[in-house]
Amino acid sequence: MFKNFRDYVNDPIEAMFIRLAEDQYPDKIDLGIGVFRDAFGNVPVMDVVRQAESRLIARGLPKSYLSPLGNHDYCRDIERLVLGGNHTVLQTSRIVSAQTPGAGSALRLGAALIHSLSPHSVVWVSEPTWPHQVEFFEVAGLEIRSYRYYDQAKGFLDIEGMLEDLWEMQRDDIILLHGCCHNPTGQDLDIAQWKLVADAVNRTGALPFVDVAYQGFGEGIEEDVAGARLMIESVPEMLLAVSSSKSFGIYRERAGMLSVMVGSEAGDIVSLGAKMRDMARQLYFMAPDHGAAIVHEILSDSELEALWRKELDGIRQHVCEKRKALRTTIEAANPGFDASFIERQHGMFSCLPITEEEQVFLEKQYHIYMLPDARVNVAAMLGNQSEILAGAFADVRAKRVSA
Ligand SMILES: Cc1ncc(COP(=O)(O)O)c(C=O)c1O
Repeated sequence: MFKNFRDYVNDPIEAMFIRLAEDQYPDKIDLGIGVFRDAFGNVPVMDVVRQAESRLIARGLPKSYLSPLGNHDYCRDIERLVLGGNHTVLQTSRIVSAQTPGAGSALRLGAALIHSLSPHSVVWVSEPTWPHQVEFFEVAGLEIRSYRYYDQAKGFLDIEGMLEDLWEMQRDDIILLHGCCHNPTGQDLDIAQWKLVADAVNRTGALPFVDVAYQGFGEGIEEDVAGARLMIESVPEMLLAVSSSKSFGIYRERAGMLSVMVGSEAGDIVSLGAKMRDMARQLYFMAPDHGAAIVHEILSDSELEALWRKELDGIRQHVCEKRKALRTTIEAANPGFDASFIERQHGMFSCLPITEEEQVFLEKQYHIYMLPDARVNVAAMLGNQSEILAGAFADVRAKRVSA
């Protein structure tokens, strides 16, 4: 049975981390990591998370089974956090949510649900996107196409190209959008651009699926979901995946949510919930509860919620400062080069304007490791690493001139 691995796909993300681990150079630089690191290089646990955890333990956190739809209270809290407490969709019973093992599983569950209802829907993803996002839909059996999104060489959002491609969408096609802090580019839509995309959705009859993985890392907790809120106000139906991994720093606890918001012509919403429950059971049986219980403890207590908002804002400010500093360092080492895109973009990631071959050169020559599309975690740089990166980038540019 286990002799034939011909179909094994060498995941480029995994492959990079293997090369990084094998590199014996003492000052190698890991810019591929996808988590927040503080000024000391640690992946901190928020104080508010520790406090919530202590309270749960003191009260004797139950360990019995929940439903495959997960922690109901967590879902109500996250719906409020993302959609806003007064959102009409929350008052009109047009929404069904499941707590999932992170947003990755929310995307996978959403993909399975879409495939079961509309197997010929095409899923449109941004070019580039987080590669795992594509896999969830591919493995569910759905066809993938990409829409133009980001011009990596020039560092800007190609909104015209994007809209041109989106006009090709057919009724019931899916458009995947990053709610904020686009992974890998850091380049987000502004509100006027969200409106244009909502217009394309309405005219084509496509269905938006918004992936919110970094709420609070861009411009602020409310600001970062303004696009998702506008979308659900503007279109009849929408899917939403939310991650608590980054916003609460509980990556390994696996807490996320899938919500389906249906239109007035939709069938019975209770049956839809039962269908989601059955599909979740088939995919992973049940989500773990510890992370969801922590988040509920925080968001159901005004004092803890205020503390969480403050801590997350501190993280956001740290990321913004790192962006500003990297821009300055790169511009100092590359006179005449405009690195303002790094300061303008949101969240932990940006893509350097270099080719795949140049990325390989940086790895071999400078021991600097990045993810595909030259994605760097701006927040992960320690000590003089940004100077080393800026110098290496100058070297790459000089080689271009002499080539
Ligand atoms: C855009 C995007 N969506 C979803 C996820 C998955 O997050 P989670 O840890 O909640 O599964 C990530 C994680 O990196 C992401 O970048």
